[in-house]
Amino acid sequence: MARPRWARGPHVATPTPGPRARRIIARDKKVISPSYTRAEPIVGEEGYGCYVRDVDGNVFLDLSSGMFVLNYGYSHPRLIRAVELQARKLTHFAGTDFYHEPQVELAERLAKITPGNFSKRVYFGNSGAEAVEAAFKCARWHTRRPRMISYTGAFHGRTFGAMSLSSTSVVHHRYFAPLVPGVSFMPFPYCYHCLFGQEYPGCDFLCFEFIREYLRKVVPPEEIAAVITEPIQGSSGYIIPPPEYYPMLKELCEEHGWLFIADEVQTGLGRSGKMFAMEHWGVTPDIICVAKALAGGMAPIGAIIASTKIMNWGPGSHASTFGGNVIACAVALEGLNILEKQKLVRRAAELGKLALKRLEELAGESRLIGEVRGKGLLLGVEFVKDKRTKKQAVKERDAVVGEALKLGIIVFRGGRSVIRIAPPLIISEREFELGLDLFERAVREVERRC
Ligand SMILES: Cc1ncc(COP(=O)(O)O)c(C=O)c1O
Repeated sequence: MARPRWARGPHVATPTPGPRARRIIARDKKVISPSYTRAEPIVGEEGYGCYVRDVDGNVFLDLSSGMFVLNYGYSHPRLIRAVELQARKLTHFAGTDFYHEPQVELAERLAKITPGNFSKRVYFGNSGAEAVEAAFKCARWHTRRPRMISYTGAFHGRTFGAMSLSSTSVVHHRYFAPLVPGVSFMPFPYCYHCLFGQEYPGCDFLCFEFIREYLRKVVPPEEIAAVITEPIQGSSGYIIPPPEYYPMLKELCEEHGWLFIADEVQTGLGRSGKMFAMEHWGVTPDIICVAKALAGGMAPIGAIIASTKIMNWGPGSHASTFGGNVIACAVALEGLNILEKQKLVRRAAELGKLALKRLEELAGESRLIGEVRGKGLLLGVEFVKDKRTKKQAVKERDAVVGEALKLGIIVFRGGRSVIRIAPPLIISEREFELGLDLFERAVREVERRC
């Protein structure tokens, strides 16, 4: 499919939402669950590459990859072809009760690209939350231990197990108690806002010492099955622990026989400039969760990858009718081909470095940007009212998101006052430059007004 004429640059002719979008949103409000957050009033109609066109003909450069899913962009011709070829052959054959080759082949590929040179097994579900759910169950099954460790600010999904491991907002928990018991939350190493009032380096890792104290006073370590972490916290605004942190955590896991679960649902598959973000710390997790980008947004899929020794649960202990659906697996395999052939992991690392430098320059000139952080094409810009007090500038951050939309770029909120920039890995240098130009204009415009 050739690039459509409209997908050559951002073009915003009406306010967002435009007249058609407003009518659809009004209908939506009557019939769709009000539990969705609905960050922006964009009603998408068509997508191509890094662009999405709404029902009123406005074209946006999507620097959020459709919520961190579209690593290969919208409507990648090779993914469309993979769906079509597979759909003509076989659309569904329950992997829980029968067999099909695309599922086996995808498992083999995932086993190969995940860290750790040992024999592995893969479980397939349909989403990030299902991957986390599976990791949780697998950890309990394997260790026969009842407790889990998670982190403040973690987001792992909204099913009961995943929700019980999450702590980004009380909204996710309100009226749903009792949650799955036995989960303890440790302070995530958010150095820019250290809970212990310390500054890295030279902080003696009090956040880590807190875990040791907790194990002495609150929870017997031998009852803990696993610790789960997003290598880089996503929903909380791309928070990156210091280099020493995960090696220390892995050592603690080994000391007490805990499994180390890396939730790479948002960070995995090249986005961070490594195939899996945990590789930045040189740590091999025991279980890895993937989802979002795995099938490039063409089909729902989620998976966990663990060593053969760890994934030793018995038949019937966990399964899902649609998990590892044949179309989703075929398209995920083609996605991995694109990732490898186009060297998108290296590309994410290189483009990310350039973007980080640019954003740091902007932060140096802007009184609203307190910190810029990132790895690969996973970039966070934190807005503050005052660089000394670091008081979070929520309204100003929201105003920048709104201004960006008016200029034709989609960026995504994170944490209390962070903007997440995470474009498709196939974005061209020129498109990304343009996106960053527009982002800078949005920041300067809000700064001028405040
Ligand atoms: C790190 C992480 N884990 C799990 C999930 C849940 O994924 P899903 O919405 O596919 O259930 C998300 C979703 O944003 C996520 O970012």
